[in-house]
Amino acid sequence: MKTIVVIGTAWGDEGKGKITDFLAAKADVVARFQGGNNAGHTVIVDGKHHLFQLLPSGVVNSGTINLLTNGMVIDPKGILEEIDDLGKKDLNLFISNRAHVVMPYHLAIESANERRKGENRLNTTGHGIGPTYSDKANRIGLRMDQFVGPNFKKQLEGIINLKNLEADKLGIPHFDVDEIYEEYKEYAKRLRPHVIDTSLFLNEAIAEGKKVLFEGAQGVMLCIENGTYPFVTSSSPTAAAVPLYAGIAPWLLEGAVGVVKAYATREGAGPMPTLIPDDKIQAHFHKTKVEYEPRTKTYRRVGWLDTVILRHAKRVSGLSYLAVTVLDILSGLDELKICTSYNLNGEVIDYVPADIKEYEKATPNFITLPGWKEDISHVKSFSELPVNAQKYLEKIEELVGVEIGIFSVGPSREQTIQVKDFF
Ligand code: IMP
Repeated sequence: MKTIVVIGTAWGDEGKGKITDFLAAKADVVARFQGGNNAGHTVIVDGKHHLFQLLPSGVVNSGTINLLTNGMVIDPKGILEEIDDLGKKDLNLFISNRAHVVMPYHLAIESANERRKGENRLNTTGHGIGPTYSDKANRIGLRMDQFVGPNFKKQLEGIINLKNLEADKLGIPHFDVDEIYEEYKEYAKRLRPHVIDTSLFLNEAIAEGKKVLFEGAQGVMLCIENGTYPFVTSSSPTAAAVPLYAGIAPWLLEGAVGVVKAYATREGAGPMPTLIPDDKIQAHFHKTKVEYEPRTKTYRRVGWLDTVILRHAKRVSGLSYLAVTVLDILSGLDELKICTSYNLNGEVIDYVPADIKEYEKATPNFITLPGWKEDISHVKSFSELPVNAQKYLEKIEELVGVEIGIFSVGPSREQTIQVKDFF
């Protein structure tokens, strides 16, 4: 396959960054197509840690072209901080002229709205993602072409007038056009050379037979269309969204790699049917620190692998291969459960209920598999895995009906094992 997308199959944090880094090394073009700096993964370049929230993973490889396409919402200050932190001279980075710009009023409005919602808050990442996509849908957003164009100040004045009416309703201070303009015109100047029509670029690259990797953020269960609404993000992190958000024909995308954590986790609010109630088992996951979220200084909720969700992801997004991550973290557990269906209102169901209140009532049906004790972090092939770990992976393939193309047993590239040659 020459054009593939890497997506998260659940609530994000599946280890997409690692799989994307691994595949980006083989790509000519890497494109982020949705979301903004609500995503994030750490990349180590020359021994230094860099947090990528907007930059596509390909920026670490010289010669790779990196795109942020029209479906994205981009915080100019955030992306310039990332560019400066990386300090790379040959940064082949292009931003869509149709992408929307996250402005300071989006952050302030989001934070006021979350405060106002109190207990019903969504626990968003606080990067202004929702308000920016709202403005896009309301047709009062600021696009990259306007931001870097000659009429930026005039456009900003019109928008700020509207935003100050919103500020009045929320009881927050007014936004000052001049103050924002003086700061943001400098960001616009620096970003101007990067702004192009990324759809034109991508169509040409695909026609020339270039290898293109689309990099998803978040996961299918956080999809605005098919996720656990309203506890979702404001874009669609599915393979199905790539054509629309990147400006290519649907049939130009040849495949999707669904990243699956070997167990389930969820950050933020919202239902999670396979949540593990046993504190001792939660402690097993917590002691590894893998599930610690430094941003919120909390541990993510941990649950057993949920194949109802994976089949949902396969239906609504499309999945060609699975990439199973953090398999090593399961070492040492006596037994492992996998959720095969839910019980809801006296029925056994194999779908994710649309109604969040119904979903909260769903209880999981599990099968139980024996665990393994061995440390598997050094393993280099499927056949080197303990038999029970092999059986666990084979069961996932069988229950989801999608082959495993990659599995990983630790954070480094060498611990990522590609078992099918698909890209
Ligand atoms: P927003 O995307 O900041 O609007 O947040 C909406 C919901 O999506 C919240 O529950 C966030 O915790 C969740 N979310 C957004 N981005 C990520 C991510 O990259 N990983 C995990 N959860 C995320």
